[in-house]
Amino acid sequence: MALSAPPTTFLTPISLLSDGVEILLDLSEGYPVVAHWGAPISGEHALDVRTLLGEAVPHADLDKPVNPGALREGARGFHGRPALQGHRGGEAWSPLFTIASVDVQGGSCTINLTDDAALLAVSLRYRILPSGVLLIDSGIVNQGATDYTVNELASWLPLPDRAAEVIDFSGRWLRERQISRKPITPGVALREGREGRTGHEHTIIQCALAPQTTFSQGEVWGAALLWSGNVRHMIEQTATGRKAIGAGELLESGEVILTPGARYDAPTMAAVYTMEGLDGVSDRLHRWLRSRPEHPTAIKPRPLTLNVWEAVYFDHNHSTLTALADVAASVGVERFVLDDGWFGSRRDDRSGLGDWLVSDAVWPDGLLPLAGHVRSLGMEFGLWFEGEMVNPDSDLYRAHPDWILKVEGRIPPTARQQLVLDLANRDCYTHILNQVDTVIREVGVAYIKWDHNRSLVDAGHRNVPAARRQTQAIYAMFDELKRRNPGLEIESCASGGGRIDLGMVMHADRFWTSDCNDALERQEIQRWTSLAIPPELLGSHIGPTESHSTGRNHSIQFRAITALFGHAGLEWNLLEATAREREAIRAWAAFYKANRGLLHGGRVTRIDYPDPGGLVHGVIAHDKSKALIAYVQARTASGSRPDAFTVPGLDPNARYRVSAREFGGAGTIQHRAPAWMAGTELTGSALLYSGLRPPVLRPEEAILVVVDRVDRL
Ligand code: DGJ
Repeated sequence: MALSAPPTTFLTPISLLSDGVEILLDLSEGYPVVAHWGAPISGEHALDVRTLLGEAVPHADLDKPVNPGALREGARGFHGRPALQGHRGGEAWSPLFTIASVDVQGGSCTINLTDDAALLAVSLRYRILPSGVLLIDSGIVNQGATDYTVNELASWLPLPDRAAEVIDFSGRWLRERQISRKPITPGVALREGREGRTGHEHTIIQCALAPQTTFSQGEVWGAALLWSGNVRHMIEQTATGRKAIGAGELLESGEVILTPGARYDAPTMAAVYTMEGLDGVSDRLHRWLRSRPEHPTAIKPRPLTLNVWEAVYFDHNHSTLTALADVAASVGVERFVLDDGWFGSRRDDRSGLGDWLVSDAVWPDGLLPLAGHVRSLGMEFGLWFEGEMVNPDSDLYRAHPDWILKVEGRIPPTARQQLVLDLANRDCYTHILNQVDTVIREVGVAYIKWDHNRSLVDAGHRNVPAARRQTQAIYAMFDELKRRNPGLEIESCASGGGRIDLGMVMHADRFWTSDCNDALERQEIQRWTSLAIPPELLGSHIGPTESHSTGRNHSIQFRAITALFGHAGLEWNLLEATAREREAIRAWAAFYKANRGLLHGGRVTRIDYPDPGGLVHGVIAHDKSKALIAYVQARTASGSRPDAFTVPGLDPNARYRVSAREFGGAGTIQHRAPAWMAGTELTGSALLYSGLRPPVLRPEEAILVVVDRVDRL
C-alpha cells in the first residue's frame, strides 16, 4: 500500500510482524507513535491502541499529556532527549512534525513528515526482517533558504516498564568487550564514542533486559548502530518513569550543516527483541547477517589462516617465510597472510606508513616469489595494509604534509608515530586507493588485513569536523577495492578489536577480534563480541605457547579449542613448534574443516553454569542433529568435583552420542575421568536436565564435547 493520505486514514495501527516480533505504529493522531515493540500483541482482533497508550494524568502535569511519538519532540510536552536536535541560526530549534505521506510495503513502513514552520522534512523507515531484526532509517532535508545545523538525529524505540537492567560493553587494547550489567536508573545511560573509529571500548550493542534474564531465557531489547565512526547508544528513563532505547551518530559541533535542499541520512539502527535471553539476541543478529548474499560463508567456507605477525613481526626474510609457508601448508593452512613490514622504509613502526610500494631492501625480487610459493602450496596469499595512516617519516608525508586530518595551524598528536590521512581529500583518497589496488593486482592478493592503529584527534578536513566523511570514505574505499578485485576479502583490524561494529560488517569480511591471543582472555572477548557478530567473522588464532601479550603459558589443547569457535587460524612461528604440537594442530585443522559448516552456521550458545570458575559455550545445529560444546576451566572449580553443565537446545526426544575430542590433551588433577568421557549415548532431555560432569581440569584448560544425534526415540 503506497499512500499519500491524511493520517486519519490510519485509524488502526500499522503492524510489522516477523518471527515472533511486532512493531505497532500508531499514526492516527497525525504523527508516528511506536505503540509497541516486542512480542506480537495485535493478533486476529483489531487492537485499540489508544487504550494501550492512554496513561493516567497525574496532578502537576500537562493538562492533556500526549505521547511524544517516534521523534520525541519537545513541542509535544516531552522533557526527555529529542530524536532530532538542531537549529537554523538559533531558530527552528523546537520542531513539530506532521505526517505528509506513508508508504507501507510488506515488512516495511516509510513515514514522511514535514514541519512547514521550521522548513524541515524528515523521513522514518521501519523494516522488519525475516530474522525478526528491526531496522530503522531516518533522514532530514532542509527545505528552507538558509542553512540548518543538525546536532543529532537518533532512532528511538520505547521499552516496557519491566525492562529494568542494561547491558553494555567497554574495553581497551588487549581486553575488548568487558561486560557491564546494571539497573536502569533515571536519566540517560549514555555510551559515546568519539575516537573517529568505533574503538576498543565500543559497545557494539546496548541491551535492556527484564530482571532474571539469562543466556537462554528472558526478554531482551537491544539496539546497535550500523556505523564505524562516532556513535551514541542511549537508554533513557524520564521522570514519568517511561523508558526508551536509542542510538545515533555522534556529530561534532558544525559537522553537519545542511545547505538549502541538502539531506542528512542517519546511520541505520538495528533493534532486536527476544524472549530467549542473550543467546536469542545472537540468534536473530546472526541469522540476519548470514542471510545476506555477500556474507562470506554464503560464498565459500572460511579458510584456515596463518598470520605471520606474532611469528616474525617486522623481521621479514624470504627463506624464513618460505619455510613457514611450507609448515603451514603441511598442517592444513589454507590462507597465508604477510603482516606489517613489507613496504617502503617500514622496518619498524617508526617509518614508511603511507608508502605502499614493496620494499626493495627486504624483498629485492618483490613479493611474487613468496606469493607464488604460497599459491603453489595450495594456499591463498594475504597482505597487510593500514591505508588511512601515514608516518611523518615517509615519502608520502614529505610530499604531501597537507594530506592529514587536522585543525589548521597545528599538527595533531601522533600515536604509534603516525598521523591520519584525510580521505575526504579526493587526491589523497585516489592516491591510496590506486597504490593499494596496484599491489593487490600485481601480487595477486586474495585477502587484505586492513589495520587502523590509532584514534582520531582534531580530525578536521579544511578545518571542519570530518569523522563522518572519513567513515564514509573508508566504506567507499573497501567497496571500490572489492569492485575492482572480485573475490577480494577484507579484514577490519584496529590494533585488534578497535573497529568491530555492525556498520563495518557491511563492508568487511572478517574482524581481528583482539591483539590478545591469550586463550583465557580470548574466552571472554569472543564470548561477548559474538553476542552481535557471528563467529565466522571473528578471527581467532592459536598463538604461541607463551602468550606475547600476557606471558601466560597455555596447552595446545586450550588454545586450539579456544581458536576453534571463530574464523580459525594460527599466529605462531610453527617452525618452533614441536612435532607433538604440529600433530595436534594437524588434527585440529582437519576437525575445523570438517565442522566449519556447523561452527559458522549453527546457533551460538553460552550455557548458564553455576560455578563462576567455569565457562561453557558452544554451537548447536539448527536441526538439532549435532552440537559442539566447550567446557572451559577458567579458574579452579569451587567443588573438588566440578559442577555438571547442561546442554540446552537439543531434541529432548532424540538419542545422542556424546564424546570428548582431544587436541593434545588437557592437564587434569584426577586419577579417573568421568565415565561419559569414554563415549556414551544420552537423550537430549538427559543432557538438558541432568547434564555432564566435567573432568577435574587444571585452571586454564578446556575440553571439547561432540554431541551427535543417533536417532529419535
Ligand atoms: C596491530 C594489529 O592488530 C596486529 O595484528 C598487527 O597487524 C600490527 N598492528 C602490525 O603493525
